[in-house]
Amino acid sequence: MQRSEPLQKTESASLPTLSKAVIPAAGLGTRFLPATKALPKEMLPVIDKPAIQYVVEEAVAAGLDNILVVTGRNKRLLEDHFDRNLEIEEALARKGDEAYADQVREPSEPVALHYIRQGTPKGVGHAILCARAHVGNEPFAVLLGDDLIDPRDRLLDRMTAVQRQLGGSVVALMEVDPHDIHLYGCAAIAPTEEGDVVRITGLVEKPGPGEAPSACAVIGRFVLHPGIFDVLHGIPPGHGGEIQLTDALDSLARSRSARAPVHGVLFSGRRYDTGDRADYLRSIVRLACEHDDLGPDFRAWLTAFVSHHLQETS
Ligand code: G1P
Repeated sequence: MQRSEPLQKTESASLPTLSKAVIPAAGLGTRFLPATKALPKEMLPVIDKPAIQYVVEEAVAAGLDNILVVTGRNKRLLEDHFDRNLEIEEALARKGDEAYADQVREPSEPVALHYIRQGTPKGVGHAILCARAHVGNEPFAVLLGDDLIDPRDRLLDRMTAVQRQLGGSVVALMEVDPHDIHLYGCAAIAPTEEGDVVRITGLVEKPGPGEAPSACAVIGRFVLHPGIFDVLHGIPPGHGGEIQLTDALDSLARSRSARAPVHGVLFSGRRYDTGDRADYLRSIVRLACEHDDLGPDFRAWLTAFVSHHLQETS
């Protein structure tokens, strides 16, 4: 990394409070077929809630109460999940199962969600372009559903504070094993005066061998300047033939615009990747171990299971 850069601060008092979040959810879920043939991948359960419910709850906890979900064909279950289900609620109330009735109501309570369809899934960048009319001319957050961030780690709060302070766009970054960087967007970074904030000088989506500028991976949280829409509109398809948000942010970062800089927040908290089968399993085990109700019994079972497995294989 180079010498640290002075931070140019914006007049945050005049900025509107960030209230909008976009959740791209039109992906095909190929890595989970055949489970995702009819079931949206965002609805795969992580213990007792679908993955997307964690993401919506994270946005709401960060004060983002205007949430647009970018969906596609076969994604109607998402809307059903965040709607009331009066039949189930009434049946449970009649049986006196208030706790379960609350859990049925819970997903529909925090905020009104908005939906738009992304006719053809042409990448995350394209999904974000679909949100343009809804977002308008203000900064907004983007949450990718494959990454779950532990609610205790308040990543979005930090990112929105940095965006208010510095303007432009803010990307969540996490250091990963250099062998894994080809699975991510990867950032070239320069330090700033604040330890957990870096200036992003360039980005590469899924770098090939020798192409990664660092081991800093883009994880699925962004606070974006609305100028991103014009850039997304003008860029050609990138990795995988898709319109990549990483490429649009790279273009902004390289232009070194003082008005719309790109910063990264280095995250070292708990992230659960539910994007492929092995990571999904690991996420469920980690979350189950920490779960208030299930955790103690599950940890005891897991310890016994692992020691038994070790004995059998030694
Ligand atoms: C997407 C982004 C990538 C980012 C990753 C984080 O990739 O394109 O830049 O690093 O999410 O999970 P995907 O995992 O959808 O292939």
